Amino acid sequence: MAESKADTKSSNQMWGGRFASGPDAIMEEINASIGFDKKLFAQDIRGSIAHATMLAHQGIISAEDKDKIVHGLNTILSEIESGNFEFSRRLEDIHMNIEARLATLIGPAAGRLHTARSRNDQVALDFRLWVKEELEKTEKMLTGLIAAFLDRAEEHAESVMPGFTHLQTAQPVTFGHHCMAYVEMFGRDRSRVRHAIEHLDESPIGAAALAGTGYPIDRHMTAKALGFREPTRNSIDTVSDRDFAIEFLSIAAITGMHLSRLAEEIVIWSTPQFGFVRLSDAFSTGSSIMPQKKNPDAAELVRAKTGRINGSLVALLTIMKGLPLAYSKDMQEDKEQVFDAAESLELAIAAMTGMVRDMTVNTARMKAAAGSGFSTATDLADWLVREAGLPFRDAHHVTGRAVALAESKGCDLAELPLADLQAIHAAITDKVYDVLTVEASVASRKSFGGTAPSEVRRQIAFWRARN
Ligand code: ARG
Repeated sequence: MAESKADTKSSNQMWGGRFASGPDAIMEEINASIGFDKKLFAQDIRGSIAHATMLAHQGIISAEDKDKIVHGLNTILSEIESGNFEFSRRLEDIHMNIEARLATLIGPAAGRLHTARSRNDQVALDFRLWVKEELEKTEKMLTGLIAAFLDRAEEHAESVMPGFTHLQTAQPVTFGHHCMAYVEMFGRDRSRVRHAIEHLDESPIGAAALAGTGYPIDRHMTAKALGFREPTRNSIDTVSDRDFAIEFLSIAAITGMHLSRLAEEIVIWSTPQFGFVRLSDAFSTGSSIMPQKKNPDAAELVRAKTGRINGSLVALLTIMKGLPLAYSKDMQEDKEQVFDAAESLELAIAAMTGMVRDMTVNTARMKAAAGSGFSTATDLADWLVREAGLPFRDAHHVTGRAVALAESKGCDLAELPLADLQAIHAAITDKVYDVLTVEASVASRKSFGGTAPSEVRRQIAFWRARN
């Protein structure tokens, strides 16, 4: 029955072809996270310095050992930053790689660093610090995107374009108003980011493996040193929780969805058929076969990155959903999802900010499109209610007949002769032509949050003060 040690180490004949050696190599490959968690080196070292400093302050380790540890950790930091650190897969993860190097550098004192902590609270700390920094970066980037939209909205507070529902011409709006719709979306995304920072602003270190520790540690001291508001309150939750990562991913998914809708609109607007915007050369590419083409590749890729971010969110939710408390190794799979989504999100925000700032808006094309498709039909109906006292339902019916007539004559509502309109309803006078232009239509919609240029300017002022 018992196989010799040498046998278990050699590659299995049935399924081991892919592996150079036996099960040990497979275990190493599935177990190691150093390939991706080396990204956490700076956070790991910061956390260890705070922990060692606290241990010495509490008399748990000596001041001399603490000094050696801190000095050694700073040496390792510069080694990694300058590319002079050899990561080893045999040492599994970033925590053990750094600790092993510390032992080589400073000897036995290195062994005292891991007093009163575990890799479980260590990884929870490192990852939280990383996600917190990423959220802070996201907040700044969203502020940049909002600023780009505010500038375009100001420039185009009066530029008329067709507003759509079902992607069918609905009513004229201003391009400034449309831009401000995105400001509202990205403004909500930014406030979600701010809330997420508040949620995760608690320090995990000191929860140890899961139960806390018998050493007289001071978790408030490490929390303060690491820039957290306070320590976490429950050690079991602390090492089990990955909500902060899932919250980041859900915010990334919602923001990505908004970016993707914007990307889709840019793809549509930049077609020769629409011609509402022209993308700068910087954000488009040519075709290798069709010389006339200018493709909105960056917008298309932003649209696609959203799929990837959604995938990461679903992956981590699924990884976590069946895990009993407290830590399980499954949780090691959290990092790649977050790192990948963060990279996609950063790129997507940067690309859309650039596109919004650089694109040329064709106001003449927009205005021409705004006037077609009987976009002022509602204005005619509203005029009949206001000036001729018709109930809205009747006004809607009368307007429908006017639209049908214009359609059969191949003209716009504003081009129908007064006699034709009066044949449909006797109360119509030549004053009606005042509301049938797109400018009049837009200017009349002064309700709070409406599309009138005066309202759009009010919205812009609100967001400028809020930034
Ligand atoms: N590399 C591990 C992770 O990322 C660190 C924690 C390991 N803890 C343990 N008990 N094996 O989750």
